[in-house]
Amino acid sequence: MKNYNNKEAQKNMWETLSVSNQRNDYFRDACKADEVPEGSMKHVEVDGREILIAKVDGKFYAIADRCGHMNALLSMGHLEAAKNKVTCGFHGAQFDIITGQKLKEPRLTPPEGMDPLPEKLSEFVYKMMNPIRTYDQERYEVKVEDNMVKVK
Ligand code: FES
Repeated sequence: MKNYNNKEAQKNMWETLSVSNQRNDYFRDACKADEVPEGSMKHVEVDGREILIAKVDGKFYAIADRCGHMNALLSMGHLEAAKNKVTCGFHGAQFDIITGQKLKEPRLTPPEGMDPLPEKLSEFVYKMMNPIRTYDQERYEVKVEDNMVKVK
């Protein structure tokens, strides 16, 4: 069994904090700018973070790509560039692409055109999903240099 003394534990803690702070201290390459055409979104992974890059009105924006509801990829949803809004393809929660702020709660009923769930299953799903909260998306700073979109 390993025997930690206080100094060793403190040193390990500071090293861990230092590494996690460094991760967000400077811009990292996310993707090439020409990989994200106007009005589109792209999923990228930067240092283990899953990020949605969107281009709206010639500017790039970056928010967390895992939906604040139940983790679906927002980049697989629908972007309404004119309204700065992304809609999750899973349950329809909506988020501001610039601020990451939640704009609309998810729906707990099947989308139009889909067969309804059997009653018992529907009751179970509603009961399980109803207490789930939907959170704002984390937002990242973005800059573009030499055709490279960078985030921090
Ligand atoms: S996972 Fe996005 S709205 Fe449910």
